[in-house]
Amino acid sequence: MNYLTSKLNKTFLFLTMLLGCCLNSQAGNRDSLALTPPMGFMTWNKYGEDINEQLIRQIADKMAADGYADAGYQYIFIDDAWQGGRDKRNNIIPDPVKFPSGMKALADYVHSRGLKLGIYSDAAPLTCAGYTASYNFEEQDAKTFAEWGMDYLKYDYCHAPSDSAVAHERYKRMGDALEKSGRKIALGVCEWGQLNPELWARQAGGSLWRISYDVRDMWKDIVKQGGMGILDIIDITEPLYSFAGPGHWNDMDMLVVGLEGKGGPSSDLGGIGCTYTEYQTQMSMWCMFASPLAMSHDILNENAATRRILLNKEIIAINQDALGKAARLVQRIGECRVYHRQLTNNRQAIAIMNPSDKAQRISLPLSFLGKSAKYDFRDVWEHKNTSVKKAWEGKLEAHETKVFVVTEK
Ligand code: GLA
Repeated sequence: MNYLTSKLNKTFLFLTMLLGCCLNSQAGNRDSLALTPPMGFMTWNKYGEDINEQLIRQIADKMAADGYADAGYQYIFIDDAWQGGRDKRNNIIPDPVKFPSGMKALADYVHSRGLKLGIYSDAAPLTCAGYTASYNFEEQDAKTFAEWGMDYLKYDYCHAPSDSAVAHERYKRMGDALEKSGRKIALGVCEWGQLNPELWARQAGGSLWRISYDVRDMWKDIVKQGGMGILDIIDITEPLYSFAGPGHWNDMDMLVVGLEGKGGPSSDLGGIGCTYTEYQTQMSMWCMFASPLAMSHDILNENAATRRILLNKEIIAINQDALGKAARLVQRIGECRVYHRQLTNNRQAIAIMNPSDKAQRISLPLSFLGKSAKYDFRDVWEHKNTSVKKAWEGKLEAHETKVFVVTEK
C-alpha cells in the first residue's frame, strides 16, 4: 500500500467513524426511551376497530388494580381505528363517537392510574384499516400527539412504497418530528420486517421494529395461509439477535396468550387458538429474545391460566434484564432446541423448547455454559431450584418450553 492510498484509507475510515458516531449519537439519544423492552396492552388483536374511551379507561383500571402495572406492564397501546379525520386546520382528531372526551382527557386518566398511553398512525395517507394517517403531516401530528400527552406511537406502513430507502426516510421524518415535539414519545416501527428495519429503524429514531407479519393465535401456519404462528415468529427472530440491545428491540408482535381463538384479527388465517403449553412457550421465547411484550387477550374477563403466564415475574425479569442481550440458538438435541441468553450478575438464562408434536426426553450436556462442575438451575415456571452436574435430564411435552436461570455453584 503506497503513502497516498494509506492516507486516503485513513481519511475514509475517519469519515466513516464520524458518520457512524453522528448516526449512533442521534439514535443513542432516543435509546433512553426504551432501555428495556416496552410492556403493555395493545387493543388490536382482541378488539380490532371496536375501541372507545370507556374501554381504555376500564383497561387502565384493571391494569392498575390487578397486578399488571406492578409486574411492569406500563403502556396501553391504542391501535388503529381511533381516528375521526382532520379538522379545518388539518389537525388530526379522534372519532367523536368513540372518544367524545378527547385524547388529552383520556391520557390524563391513564396517567393518573400510573400508566402510559400509546397511539397509532401510518407512514402513508391512510392506515391499514383505512383511517386518516400521518404522511406529509408528520410534524403537525407529532405535535398533536405531544399535546395530548401520548408516550408512544406505533407507526404502520400500509399503503406505502415497498422500498427500504423510502421506508427509512418516512420513518425518520416521523422520528425527527417526535424528537421536535417537546415530549418524549417512543416510536414503534411497524413495517413487518420486509425491508430490513433492523438495519435502519434505530437511526430513524425507532425504539423497536416489527420483524414479522401479524401474529395469529396459532402454533404455526401448517396450511400456509400466510398467518404467522408462534413458532414461525421464533424462527424469523433468532437470526436477528445481534440487533437487539438497550433502547432498540426486535418486536415479535403481540402476545396471543389467553386469546383462545376468540380474538378479532388474530383469529384470521388459521388463528384457531393455542394450548396453554403453547402460550407458555410464546411468553418464554418473547422474553428470551427481549421482545416488547404487548398483551392482547380479553383482559377484562381473563382466567387464572392466562394470569399465571402473563404475570410470572421471574420470566418477566429475563425479558427486562438490563444487559438487553437477546437469546441465540446454541444447540439442537434430537428434536429439541436450546436457546441461551446472558443475564446481568453472571447469570445465564436457557430455554429448552420442544417444537415437535410428541413429548421428548432429553439429556443436555452443560459444557456450553462454562467450566463449572455444578450449576444451580432455577426453573422459572415451576419456581424451583435444582443442582445440576454435567447434564440436565428431563422431559418436555409437545410444544413445551422450560426456562432456567442458571448460576455457577
Ligand atoms: C397492521 C399491523 C397490525 C395492526 C393493524 C391495524 O396489520 O401490523 O399490528 O396495527 O395494521 O390496522
